[in-house]
Amino acid sequence: MGELDGRTALVTGGSRGIGRAVALRLAAEGALVAVHYGGNDAAATETVAKIAESGGRAFAVRALFGESGAVDRLFEGLTAGLADHDADGLDILVNNAGIHSVTSIGKLTEEEFERLLAVNVSTPVFVVQRALPLLRDGGRIVNMGSAATRIANPLQIGYTVTKAALAALGPSLANELGRRGITVNTVEPGVVLTDMIAPYAAVPEAVAGLESITALGRIGEPEDVADVVAFLAGSQGRWVTGQTIDVSGGTYLGPIAAE
Ligand SMILES: NC(=O)c1ccc[n+]([C@@H]2O[C@H](COP(=O)([O-])OP(=O)(O)OC[C@H]3O[C@@H](n4cnc5c(N)ncnc54)[C@H](OP(=O)(O)O)[C@@H]3O)[C@@H](O)[C@H]2O)c1
Repeated sequence: MGELDGRTALVTGGSRGIGRAVALRLAAEGALVAVHYGGNDAAATETVAKIAESGGRAFAVRALFGESGAVDRLFEGLTAGLADHDADGLDILVNNAGIHSVTSIGKLTEEEFERLLAVNVSTPVFVVQRALPLLRDGGRIVNMGSAATRIANPLQIGYTVTKAALAALGPSLANELGRRGITVNTVEPGVVLTDMIAPYAAVPEAVAGLESITALGRIGEPEDVADVVAFLAGSQGRWVTGQTIDVSGGTYLGPIAAE
């Protein structure tokens, strides 16, 4: 008997990286998982197949955020997929899909910033709005922020602003939904080894530099984040709401004593 048996979950960007680890983890706990993705059919199919191989239940839903009508397509796919599995309603929403950019304030264009805002902020806001009628009492919302909001990096200015905006959703939504037993939290990972940071991870000096400023001495793995999301999504996380949780292995906490 899994912790999430009988529950349903939607993980946006659930086909790769952190979202895939979250989808696998929630499915391993027994949830029926809607694995949302933007365009990479092969990755989504592979994630759903991995879940099925482990005895879990999942289906894929394609909707390219930033495109007109994407939220409608997401919810059409979600309700159809739930019905195919004799399910309805939603217990867990993980707003994980996001895009990154490496641009200083001097080079940031209006077009780039608007795209970041559309995918990282506007879409999750309207995904929450559309999810609310489906979300059962006692449900969970977890938003995927970033430790970039704490660790200043001028080259991530546009991205950082969007992640700060996403985190700002948490407390107000938590207050609105708390009487229904629904919790809302933001998880802020540090650098995690996924496709998103592959160019960075390919530079040994960059990796060594990051390890040297991280208390736990390594770069994060998707599962490090997925375990925290699963805690918030499960019964053990029931008394945590409106919070922003740093999941960075203690990146940039302050000086680390030389050995
Ligand atoms: N990796 C890190 O170091 C790190 C650190 C802090 C926070 N985060 C945050 O964690 C989340 C996941 O990051 P990740 O590193 O796992 O990313 P990733 O490996 O690049 O995976 C991104 C996922 O989101 C989907 N996606 C991307 N753009 C989309 C769009 N426009 N419409 C719909 N789906 C889209 C992708 O689907 P397709 O493949 O089909 O496009 C994929 O499933 C993001 O919000 C990111 O900002 C990541």
